[in-house]
Amino acid sequence: MTHFGVDYYPEHWPRERWPIDARMMREAGIGLVRMGEFAWAKMEPVEGQFDFAWLDDAIGVVAAEGIQTVLGTPTATPPAWVIERNPEILPVDNTGAVRGFGGRHHDCQSNETYRGHIRRIVRAMARHFFANPHVVGWQIDNELGNSHRSLCFCGSCARAFRAWLRVRYKTIEALNQAWGTVFWSQTYSTFDQVPVPLPTPNSHNPSLLLDWKRFCSDLIVDFQRLQVAILREECPRQFVTHNYMGLFDKTNYCDLAEDLDFIAHNQYPLHFRKDRYPVAPPERLAATLDLMRGIKRKPFWIMEQQAGPSGWETVSSTPRPGQLRLWTHQAVARGADTIVYFRWRTCLFGTEQFWHGILPHSGEPGRRYDEIKRTISELAPVMDRLGDGGQGAEVAMLWSYEQQWAFQVQPHHPDFDYVAHLMTYYRAMYEARVPIDLISERMDLSPYRLVIAPLMFLMTPELEAKLRAYVAGGGHLVLTMRTGVKDRNNQIIPHTLPGPLADVVGVRIDDYDCLWGVSQGVRWLAEGSALAGPCQKWCDIPRLEGARPLALYTTDYYAGTPAITENAYGQGRAYYAGTELPPVVMKAFMAHALAEANVAPLVATAPEGVEVARRRGRGADYLFLLNHTGTPVDFRLPLQWTLLIGPEPTADAVLRLGPYEVATCISA
Ligand code: GAL
Ligand code: ZN
Repeated sequence: MTHFGVDYYPEHWPRERWPIDARMMREAGIGLVRMGEFAWAKMEPVEGQFDFAWLDDAIGVVAAEGIQTVLGTPTATPPAWVIERNPEILPVDNTGAVRGFGGRHHDCQSNETYRGHIRRIVRAMARHFFANPHVVGWQIDNELGNSHRSLCFCGSCARAFRAWLRVRYKTIEALNQAWGTVFWSQTYSTFDQVPVPLPTPNSHNPSLLLDWKRFCSDLIVDFQRLQVAILREECPRQFVTHNYMGLFDKTNYCDLAEDLDFIAHNQYPLHFRKDRYPVAPPERLAATLDLMRGIKRKPFWIMEQQAGPSGWETVSSTPRPGQLRLWTHQAVARGADTIVYFRWRTCLFGTEQFWHGILPHSGEPGRRYDEIKRTISELAPVMDRLGDGGQGAEVAMLWSYEQQWAFQVQPHHPDFDYVAHLMTYYRAMYEARVPIDLISERMDLSPYRLVIAPLMFLMTPELEAKLRAYVAGGGHLVLTMRTGVKDRNNQIIPHTLPGPLADVVGVRIDDYDCLWGVSQGVRWLAEGSALAGPCQKWCDIPRLEGARPLALYTTDYYAGTPAITENAYGQGRAYYAGTELPPVVMKAFMAHALAEANVAPLVATAPEGVEVARRRGRGADYLFLLNHTGTPVDFRLPLQWTLLIGPEPTADAVLRLGPYEVATCISA
């Protein structure tokens, strides 16, 4: 099986050009294309009249160069005739306004009429392509949930939400109880009275909002399942996947993964709009990849890897020479099996005219083509020898969509952000060069020596028992601020925090402080340490009940009370961090926790800006060194590693990595 592909849109180019493209792909080492995911109008120009001949032709043209095809179901782009016939399919936004045709996913995913159209096109496609030997698999839709950020609030979705609530609560009395609707006279006498959360004069009930987020996620999972079921029935030989958007939070990606053979992800380090990082920090890219690997704890695909500047109305910076190669190596280092570049050639029309592919508008291969060709030729042989994608991580961090949603409903501090908080821990591990798995709280914790479980705000008896058993059995666990505050219905649990886990961490919290308009500091306690800095957002103020303090708050009425604590419990150890820590204290804290858990870094030192990752291969380990900076750095290769890819080391084993340069080593 090939490891490299491109996203190809034959419908955007004249037929005469296809063989030229296919030959150039093959010459670059590309063995796979993804096609079809937005071509519904071409596949079904009139209801029930299918035209797959052009796609058969395109599959044949690339197959003649030895290139396989992954087909996308085109359900992200219902054609104009679908909307004309059934305008009730159009989605309603969170102001109650109907969104019109154009763009993508101008649809309501709960709408049964729309689902009828989906069943027809997906079944027809599946029946047409199941026997084509060049079609190896399917991508469902495209970036599910993306276009639906603040959609859909239509009548169909309201009915679906109520049906979902009926399944969850059975009786309206149980819902009233679970949501605490006695507050502000919100008591419902029937499910039909329960609203979708359109704007009200004041805030909504937090339990309703959390259930709405769960429902919206389940709706997307269900929408995907509808298509997966058809493909499983018609195309048992072909795999089924979906392209994720990394740290995107609208859909519970763990749930979405359950129906897929493996997950795929779209990795775009450069962004073109004001609402995101123009250039994603390398550790954020790394965390994204670690989560994509962690969701199924197995290798994944990159279905869209940045291949040039991105842009719609505005345009990102251009990838520096070396960066396309660097990002490819990074994805492989952290568990990608196959890299598919978006897109082959830059389109001449439509919204994505400035979303650059490997080839520029002219279609003449240039700098980006050459760089990707080189990357493929050096990496493909290494990828042949990689195993299951594991990093051999001894540390895990729990990544929870439910906790994230609960904090979106009530962030406490106006600037609080779930992902940013988790990144304070992730960054410390990344900088310590310690591999970490980002996994859901449903996963088995026993492979890990140290588990970081931030913001376990919603607590259930099952989660509590799991965390307790992990520590009792010898695990080292980090719990943090706002642990055990709520039940699964988003109601406060009336206990002294952190609730039943108090004996595990050896502290109780009877006081806390939101750092909104006030400030606080933290000082690391180790002897002779002068490490201190301002903490952020929130402080839990613990009282010791058996734990020992590792760091103290520095000012105000709770100066001198513990900010970080450590407690022996059973065979293991539990830490409690009461606040969002300053980087210097976080670094000391993680160094301490790693040492106590007996976890060693991959390398003792590495220059700043150089990412270090390890991937377990068949019979050997592979070490990836990635210079994310625009300046050269020197690195001394430890003896156990032999260079496979990278610049020649000097006589005294110093590797000089140029700007954005990479090196790959194999264990001796
Ligand atoms: C991705 C999407 C692609 C394409 C690309 C560039 O998010 O999956 O279809 O739109 O962005 O905008
Ligand atoms: Zn709807």
